[in-house]
Amino acid sequence: MKVLVATEKPFAKVAVDGIRKEAEAAGMELALLEKYTEKSQLLAAVATADALIIRSDKVDAEVLAAAPNLKIVVRAGAGYDNVDLAAATAAGVCVMNTPGQNSNAVAELVFGLLVYAVRNFYNGTSGTELKGKRLGIHAYGNVGRNVARIARGFGMDIYAYDAYTPAEAIERDGVKPLGSVEELYATADVVSVHIPATAETRQSINEALLARLPKGAVVVNTARKEVIDEPGLVRFLEARPDVKYVTDIRPDNHEEMMEKFAARYFATPKKMGAQTAEANINAGIAAARQIVGYLLRGDDTFRVNK
Ligand code: 3PG
Repeated sequence: MKVLVATEKPFAKVAVDGIRKEAEAAGMELALLEKYTEKSQLLAAVATADALIIRSDKVDAEVLAAAPNLKIVVRAGAGYDNVDLAAATAAGVCVMNTPGQNSNAVAELVFGLLVYAVRNFYNGTSGTELKGKRLGIHAYGNVGRNVARIARGFGMDIYAYDAYTPAEAIERDGVKPLGSVEELYATADVVSVHIPATAETRQSINEALLARLPKGAVVVNTARKEVIDEPGLVRFLEARPDVKYVTDIRPDNHEEMMEKFAARYFATPKKMGAQTAEANINAGIAAARQIVGYLLRGDDTFRVNK
């Protein structure tokens, strides 16, 4: 059986070696498609694949139709908004993610971006500290929890809102649960966004919500660009010159943002949150093991489609 690793943004070599070892130990063959630039390359590569490991690579109905032997797709990472789940289910393909495997890497980048922001992008002027500031964690999943853990080291006052996590679970971590997203934005000097991109969350961070932020706030987004109402963000930043926006996911209106807000806006050129050797190894090897478990034993833990 053939396992294809298709990554437009490749894993570290050490992670690919680990994935190969897992696959070969189970009697499977590993194929690699890295840094591809055309969808046609992916369509050709999946033609003979029984299993597929991807990152943010798009797997839509066309890709699934080009892969007649495909039984499983594992998104080595958390968010699976890049996979057409309905099409996969219709094609009889199991889809999984690898929750938690890259979350520390993303959480560490949150603080890399935050220190850069509050020190005025290292332009030599006097900035502020994170110590004593109110941090609002928007969604308390694996990344949110790691953000809370690191924030304690910075001496921040930590709040969280999560529509699905019980308040007691948040409290157990020494984090103050808030009752609504509006309350979170009204409370936090720093908001860290960790909601997935779903039909419900798309463009949900809009002008009205942002308008609740206290003076001098910073919003850091290491989740998805789709959760931001981009024209609303522009209007808000125009009205509020005290606020900064830093992100690991370049918005569609990046040029406009640069033009208008260069002194208080930053986007990484390529999504870097999960781009560490450790996260690549953890997520990549977990993906390989999940494939082996599914194909050889029918273990469908972490399946995200029905
Ligand atoms: C995730 O959902 O796991 C992160 O956004 C990382 O995405 P990436 O694997 O494309 O870097």
